[in-house]
Amino acid sequence: MTFKKNILCIGAGYVGGPTMAMIAYKCPQYKVTVVDINPSRIAEWNSDDLPIYEPGLDKIVKSTRDKNLFFTTEMERGIKEAEIIFVSVNTPVKTFGAGAGMAADLQYWEKTARQILKCSESSKIIVEKSTFPVRTAFAMERILSLSENNTHFDVLSNPEFLAEGTAIKDLEYPDRVLIGSRETPSGVRAKDELIEIYSHWVPKDRIITSNIWSSELSKLVANAFLAQRVSSINSFTAFCEKTEANITEVARAIGMDSRLGNKFLNSSVGWGGSCFKKDILNLVYLCRHYGLEEVADYWEGVVRINEYQMERFVLNMLNAMFNTLAGKKICLFGFAFKGNTGDTRESPAIFIAKKLIEEKAELVITDPEALNNAKIDLNGIDGKIMYIDDPYEASGGCDAIAVMTEWDIYISLDFEKIYRSMVKPAFIFDGRNILDHKRLFDIGFNVFPIGKTPFTHF
Ligand code: NAD
Ligand code: UGA
Repeated sequence: MTFKKNILCIGAGYVGGPTMAMIAYKCPQYKVTVVDINPSRIAEWNSDDLPIYEPGLDKIVKSTRDKNLFFTTEMERGIKEAEIIFVSVNTPVKTFGAGAGMAADLQYWEKTARQILKCSESSKIIVEKSTFPVRTAFAMERILSLSENNTHFDVLSNPEFLAEGTAIKDLEYPDRVLIGSRETPSGVRAKDELIEIYSHWVPKDRIITSNIWSSELSKLVANAFLAQRVSSINSFTAFCEKTEANITEVARAIGMDSRLGNKFLNSSVGWGGSCFKKDILNLVYLCRHYGLEEVADYWEGVVRINEYQMERFVLNMLNAMFNTLAGKKICLFGFAFKGNTGDTRESPAIFIAKKLIEEKAELVITDPEALNNAKIDLNGIDGKIMYIDDPYEASGGCDAIAVMTEWDIYISLDFEKIYRSMVKPAFIFDGRNILDHKRLFDIGFNVFPIGKTPFTHF
């Protein structure tokens, strides 16, 4: 079969894999190839056991793979053949040198740009899919303009807004698709080509365009606002616990104001995930770079409140359990940074687990999808940690349960059976406010929700 266009995506991760699968699924006339430097990741994408857990992903990958969707390590060939190249490599926080701990580490991105330059024999559209610092497109254009064989590159910004756990739904029915471009004739042509791809399934009024810098900045701002909302509601959980106000009632009352809206108001042990922290820190770094200290301080506060929330959770446990956790067995219900994903990057559970081990507690960790990642995250930590799939077996013999992830399966567990199997007094710390607290109290548990008065038997 001859295809209308060849699309390449560099980076087969949480973004590259699902977004390209969706393009292949919706645009059968395009050939979509995904390359990665990690051969085992590519082998997993080509197997029955995909490298990431995402509801609905299996179906679309399996219906397109080896028809118009291909996973390969053949970077050079992929670049040569492609007319449109999406760059979706990782952009972690820099761990060394200037900007360590704040700025984005751009080495993966720069290697990609140089590889594109080296292998290209024809002009191409380059699409920034990764989340980059503002003005990265300019650096990308500078590198690509070093081409000696008369090839021309148009760089577009097309940030991805999918959330893990709902990636397929977010990709199929996006609130909006944002495309930033240069206003040059070839920049406009490139933008139109990308619009044409998305138009196969996204309504025209949801495909919005802007200048390239606004597009890059909008991605950072969107994540900063989302994280800020959770930090804002979480900041009031401490207040509620002091005053007998109830955070769920407060969230409901404010969320009914149509100016505020009711989404992203679930108080929690803290927000996690691979992007919120790194993107805000990157924004803070950029603000300081431009001398905008007040703006930087404002957004840094969003990260600080999140750290405070996670620390507070452990201190509340310590306080409730008679100021010592040494030798006590604590079961973590969930390790993923949110429900419906096996991803544990920056999960609050990592922070909590480490703090509990510092207090010399013993841990039993259970999670339906994230145990393998949990083992990697806690590898080498000096403490007693067990990993058990079955939540009943995991909580048996424990002094306390701490809910870390809002998995639905935890809501419908038989807590009478669990209570009977635990050491007394038995404690539950619900870091996601998903359980029926009054019922648990009636069973015999001492229950500590987030932002609500605890239910205790003493
Ligand atoms: P990831 O770590 O899951 O995947 C990145 C992939 O790129 C890895 O498989 C890595 O091996 C590969 N890679 C790195 N350098 C490469 C190179 N030179 N050539 C080929 N492959 C290379 O990361 P991710 O979660 O998919 O995130 C990618 C980008 O998308 C980040 O900038 C992130 O901020 C952004 N983003 C992520 C999400 C999300 O939900 N995870 C959502 C929106 C945006
Ligand atoms: C987030 C954004 O929602 C996406 O739009 C963005 O594309 C993505 O980051 C990214 O750039 O990587 P994600 O991190 O996958 O997506 O998941 P979210 O649903 O945003 O949750 C982030 C964290 O906040 C999780 O730990 C979640 O449990 C927590 N959260 C979220 C709360 O504690 N309360 C809420 O009300 C909502």
